[in-house]
Amino acid sequence: MHCFRKVTNDLYWVGGSDRRLELFENLFPIPRGVSYNSYLLLDEKTVLFDTVDNSIGRQFLDNITALLNGRALDYLVVNHMEPDHCSMIADLMLRYPDMQIIGNAKTFPMIRQFYALNLDSKTIAVKEGDTFSSGTHTFRFLMAPMVHWPEVMLTYDETDKVLFSADAFGTFGALNGAIFNDEIDFDRDWLDDARRYYTNIVGKYGMQVQNVLKKASALDIRFICPLHGPIWRNNLAYLLEKYDIWSSYRPEVKGVMIAYASMYGNTENLANVLACKLADAGITNLTIHDVSRSDVSELIADSFKYSHIVLASPTYNGGVYPAMSNLLEDMNALGIKNRTVAVLGNGTWAPTSAKLMEARLAEMKGMTLLTENFAVKSALQDDQLEDLDELCAKITETLTD
Ligand code: FEO
Repeated sequence: MHCFRKVTNDLYWVGGSDRRLELFENLFPIPRGVSYNSYLLLDEKTVLFDTVDNSIGRQFLDNITALLNGRALDYLVVNHMEPDHCSMIADLMLRYPDMQIIGNAKTFPMIRQFYALNLDSKTIAVKEGDTFSSGTHTFRFLMAPMVHWPEVMLTYDETDKVLFSADAFGTFGALNGAIFNDEIDFDRDWLDDARRYYTNIVGKYGMQVQNVLKKASALDIRFICPLHGPIWRNNLAYLLEKYDIWSSYRPEVKGVMIAYASMYGNTENLANVLACKLADAGITNLTIHDVSRSDVSELIADSFKYSHIVLASPTYNGGVYPAMSNLLEDMNALGIKNRTVAVLGNGTWAPTSAKLMEARLAEMKGMTLLTENFAVKSALQDDQLEDLDELCAKITETLTD
């Protein structure tokens, strides 16, 4: 049975949600599921904006079949060619053989690469600023390379002021009937997943997201229709501000994330003692992660969220504990920068982890390091409490700057 919702007078959400998938991109845990959004416009010509993932293909086809009600699908706009949004293209070409595909110069080679389809006489190539009319609606195309792949573009409906934003402004999380931001408590229930989605999927491409924000600021936008998560139809400034903060690598909150690795609890104790000292000093925005327990995507999200990061790790095989090493690799890959950082090492006979972690952090831009080879031997000792007090004071001072 079809299951769609109306967005504007003649625009419909025809996507769906997957609550069974464990790992998005076979990598990121999504306990709240994920939605794949697609939008169908019933104008003088019919226009579909992106398709969906295979997993909800049947629902998607039911939706557009019901809405088209015997009409043909005239155009498919492909804003993004990642398979979670384009895996139904071949099915649509079979069902609607006269359908034209609107994309840019980078879109069509990807369609051929993924699906080996013959696109002869089926494509309309657009470039930055080009417009297209479906009858009463006029669309403008804005290129958004690397948000999140090189072929990504945004489509702006000048008639109804709708921005089809591809992955931008999307989030993990299934849509549970409510599809608009004013039907949910985004700040309470969705923000953590939105941050985790942004930082892990698009975090590396902050400069490109800033370019998109500049383009968006020149438009009169009433609706933002992303490919994942809720549609925005009010309070757009809230979302745009979050994206501006994340994409400029500014901390969202002044506070401390402590991420520790610990085999037998001694490095965990070191992290806990520091956390208690920080709390005693009046720091309230504090969070602690065990890197062996928290998924690295959560650690990345909190690295973007907090102004201060404390990393604590034992020495392992002469190096850094693997889960901590993985976090550092991901932080570097995703371009996190401009944080105040402290490093705590541990080692029983040859502690090297502190120095090695410091070297890894030095590869990242704008990191201010508050420690220099701070290491305990096996466990925190009484004569090191003073050093920890000094570190606590430095963190507190820099937090209240
Ligand atoms: Fe949701 Fe970049 O795909």
